[in-house]
Amino acid sequence: METWYPPAGPSAVELLIVGLAPGLRGANRTGIPFIGDESGTLLHQTLARHGLARQSLQSDSADRPTLNGTAITNAVRCVPPENKPVGAEINTCRKFLVATINRMPELKVIVTLGKISHDSTIRALGGKIAHHPFRHAAETEIGSIRILSSYHCSRYNINTGRLTPQMFDTVFQKAVRSLGPGSAPST
Ligand code: URA
Repeated sequence: METWYPPAGPSAVELLIVGLAPGLRGANRTGIPFIGDESGTLLHQTLARHGLARQSLQSDSADRPTLNGTAITNAVRCVPPENKPVGAEINTCRKFLVATINRMPELKVIVTLGKISHDSTIRALGGKIAHHPFRHAAETEIGSIRILSSYHCSRYNINTGRLTPQMFDTVFQKAVRSLGPGSAPST
Protein backbone atom coordinates (compact mmCIF):
# COMPACT_ATOMS: atom_id res chain seq x y z
CA MET A 1 0.00 0.00 0.00
CA GLU A 2 1.86 3.11 -1.16
CA THR A 3 -0.72 5.48 0.24
CA TRP A 4 -2.85 4.90 3.29
CA TYR A 5 -6.31 6.44 3.00
CA PRO A 6 -9.23 7.03 5.36
CA PRO A 7 -12.08 4.50 4.98
CA ALA A 8 -13.96 6.67 2.45
CA GLY A 9 -10.90 6.76 0.17
CA PRO A 10 -9.07 9.54 -1.68
CA SER A 11 -12.19 11.64 -2.21
CA ALA A 12 -12.43 12.20 1.58
CA VAL A 13 -8.87 13.44 1.98
CA GLU A 14 -8.35 17.07 3.03
CA LEU A 15 -4.92 16.60 4.60
CA LEU A 16 -2.05 14.63 3.06
CA ILE A 17 1.12 13.76 4.96
CA VAL A 18 4.17 13.10 2.80
CA GLY A 19 6.95 11.07 4.44
CA LEU A 20 10.29 10.12 2.99
CA ALA A 21 10.31 6.43 2.05
CA PRO A 22 9.02 3.14 3.45
CA GLY A 23 10.85 2.39 6.70
CA LEU A 24 12.83 -0.86 6.64
CA ARG A 25 11.04 -2.31 9.64
CA GLY A 26 7.89 -0.32 9.04
CA ALA A 27 6.11 0.23 5.73
CA ASN A 28 8.51 -2.09 3.97
CA ARG A 29 7.40 -4.91 6.28
CA THR A 30 3.78 -3.97 7.01
CA GLY A 31 3.01 -2.44 3.60
CA ILE A 32 1.53 0.66 5.25
CA PRO A 33 3.36 4.00 5.55
CA PHE A 34 4.58 4.67 9.10
CA ILE A 35 3.05 1.50 10.50
CA GLY A 36 5.39 -0.73 12.48
CA ASP A 37 8.30 1.66 12.89
CA GLU A 38 9.33 4.18 15.49
CA SER A 39 8.90 7.14 13.16
CA GLY A 40 5.23 6.25 13.22
CA THR A 41 4.80 6.41 16.98
CA LEU A 42 5.01 10.19 17.34
CA LEU A 43 3.13 10.72 14.08
CA HIS A 44 0.17 8.59 15.15
CA GLN A 45 0.06 10.05 18.66
CA THR A 46 0.00 13.53 17.15
CA LEU A 47 -2.67 12.64 14.58
CA ALA A 48 -4.87 11.17 17.32
CA ARG A 49 -4.47 14.26 19.49
CA HIS A 50 -5.70 16.45 16.66
CA GLY A 51 -8.66 14.25 15.73
CA LEU A 52 -7.01 13.16 12.48
CA ALA A 53 -6.86 9.49 13.47
CA ARG A 54 -8.84 7.45 15.92
CA GLN A 55 -6.60 5.58 18.36
CA SER A 56 -2.95 5.81 19.03
CA LEU A 57 -0.54 3.08 18.17
CA GLN A 58 2.11 0.95 19.82
CA SER A 59 5.23 1.12 17.64
CA ASP A 60 5.24 -2.55 16.69
CA SER A 61 1.55 -3.28 16.80
CA ALA A 62 -0.03 -4.77 13.73
CA ASP A 63 -3.20 -2.75 14.41
CA ARG A 64 -3.56 0.58 12.87
CA PRO A 65 -5.66 3.57 13.65
CA THR A 66 -8.39 4.78 11.33
CA LEU A 67 -7.44 7.95 9.53
CA ASN A 68 -9.92 10.81 9.57
CA GLY A 69 -9.91 12.99 6.43
CA THR A 70 -6.18 12.32 6.27
CA ALA A 71 -3.94 10.22 4.02
CA ILE A 72 -0.29 9.25 4.43
CA THR A 73 2.16 8.60 1.60
CA ASN A 74 5.89 8.76 0.92
CA ALA A 75 7.96 10.82 -1.54
CA VAL A 76 9.98 7.74 -2.52
CA ARG A 77 8.66 4.24 -3.03
CA CYS A 78 11.56 1.93 -2.22
CA VAL A 79 13.68 1.72 0.90
CA PRO A 80 16.82 3.65 0.00
CA PRO A 81 20.35 2.57 1.03
CA GLU A 82 21.09 4.16 4.43
CA ASN A 83 17.70 5.84 4.15
CA LYS A 84 19.16 8.40 1.72
CA PRO A 85 17.38 8.36 -1.62
CA VAL A 86 19.33 9.75 -4.56
CA GLY A 87 18.03 12.53 -6.77
CA ALA A 88 17.18 10.21 -9.65
CA GLU A 89 15.02 8.03 -7.41
CA ILE A 90 13.24 11.05 -5.96
CA ASN A 91 12.57 12.44 -9.43
CA THR A 92 11.38 9.07 -10.78
CA CYS A 93 8.96 8.65 -7.90
CA ARG A 94 7.54 12.15 -8.25
CA LYS A 95 5.04 11.04 -10.88
CA PHE A 96 3.47 8.74 -8.27
CA LEU A 97 3.24 11.62 -5.83
CA VAL A 98 1.62 13.80 -8.51
CA ALA A 99 -0.87 11.01 -9.29
CA THR A 100 -1.64 10.58 -5.58
CA ILE A 101 -2.29 14.31 -5.15
CA ASN A 102 -4.48 14.35 -8.26
CA ARG A 103 -6.73 11.65 -6.79
CA MET A 104 -7.76 13.98 -3.94
CA PRO A 105 -10.28 16.57 -5.13
CA GLU A 106 -10.85 17.95 -1.59
CA LEU A 107 -7.17 18.25 -0.68
CA LYS A 108 -6.44 21.49 1.20
CA VAL A 109 -3.29 20.93 3.23
CA ILE A 110 -0.08 18.93 2.83
CA VAL A 111 2.31 18.33 5.74
CA THR A 112 5.76 17.39 4.50
CA LEU A 113 8.17 15.47 6.71
CA GLY A 114 11.78 16.45 6.05
CA LYS A 115 13.49 18.43 3.29
CA ILE A 116 13.43 15.70 0.64
CA SER A 117 9.69 15.28 1.04
CA HIS A 118 9.20 19.05 1.11
CA ASP A 119 11.22 19.67 -2.06
CA SER A 120 9.59 16.81 -3.96
CA THR A 121 6.11 17.99 -2.94
CA ILE A 122 6.84 21.58 -4.02
CA ARG A 123 8.00 20.29 -7.40
CA ALA A 124 5.03 17.92 -7.68
CA LEU A 125 2.76 20.95 -7.28
CA GLY A 126 4.67 22.84 -9.98
CA GLY A 127 6.43 25.21 -7.56
CA LYS A 128 10.07 26.29 -7.37
CA ILE A 129 12.13 25.42 -4.30
CA ALA A 130 13.72 28.90 -4.33
CA HIS A 131 10.26 30.40 -3.82
CA HIS A 132 9.22 27.82 -1.21
CA PRO A 133 12.38 26.90 0.76
CA PHE A 134 12.31 24.20 3.43
CA ARG A 135 12.25 25.36 7.04
CA HIS A 136 10.69 23.63 10.03
CA ALA A 137 7.16 24.99 10.60
CA ALA A 138 7.26 27.04 7.37
CA GLU A 139 3.91 27.62 5.67
CA THR A 140 3.43 28.33 2.01
CA GLU A 141 0.80 28.00 -0.68
CA ILE A 142 0.75 26.68 -4.24
CA GLY A 143 -2.58 27.14 -5.98
CA SER A 144 -5.26 26.17 -3.49
CA ILE A 145 -2.97 23.90 -1.47
CA ARG A 146 -1.33 25.01 1.77
CA ILE A 147 1.98 23.31 2.51
CA LEU A 148 3.31 23.02 6.06
CA SER A 149 6.85 21.76 6.51
CA SER A 150 8.27 19.81 9.42
CA TYR A 151 11.50 18.08 10.26
CA HIS A 152 11.02 14.36 9.74
CA CYS A 153 9.71 12.55 12.83
CA SER A 154 12.53 9.98 12.61
CA ARG A 155 13.91 8.31 15.68
CA TYR A 156 17.22 10.10 15.01
CA ASN A 157 15.62 13.54 14.93
CA ILE A 158 13.61 12.82 18.06
CA ASN A 159 16.53 11.33 20.01
CA THR A 160 18.80 14.25 19.13
CA GLY A 161 16.11 16.78 20.04
CA ARG A 162 16.07 18.27 16.54
CA LEU A 163 12.33 17.60 16.56
CA THR A 164 10.47 17.67 19.87
CA PRO A 165 6.88 16.44 20.27
CA GLN A 166 5.90 20.09 20.94
CA MET A 167 7.49 21.27 17.68
CA PHE A 168 5.66 18.52 15.80
CA ASP A 169 2.41 19.32 17.54
CA THR A 170 2.65 22.97 16.48
CA VAL A 171 2.83 21.95 12.81
CA PHE A 172 -0.35 19.88 13.15
CA GLN A 173 -2.09 22.65 15.07
CA LYS A 174 -1.43 24.89 12.07
CA ALA A 175 -2.55 22.15 9.69
CA VAL A 176 -5.89 21.73 11.46
CA ARG A 177 -6.33 25.51 11.57
CA SER A 178 -5.66 25.65 7.82
CA LEU A 179 -8.34 23.03 7.20
CA GLY A 180 -10.80 25.61 8.45
CA PRO A 181 -14.02 25.42 10.43
CA GLY A 182 -15.78 22.10 10.62
CA SER A 183 -12.47 20.22 10.61
CA ALA A 184 -11.08 17.78 11.64
CA PRO A 185 -12.92 16.36 8.71
CA SER A 186 -15.14 13.32 8.83
CA THR A 187 -13.93 10.05 7.39
N1 URA B 1 8.06 5.10 7.38
C1 URA B 1 7.49 5.64 6.30
O1 URA B 1 6.55 5.09 5.72
N2 URA B 1 7.96 6.80 5.83
C2 URA B 1 8.96 7.44 6.41
O2 URA B 1 9.32 8.52 5.95
C3 URA B 1 9.54 6.86 7.55
C4 URA B 1 9.08 5.70 8.01
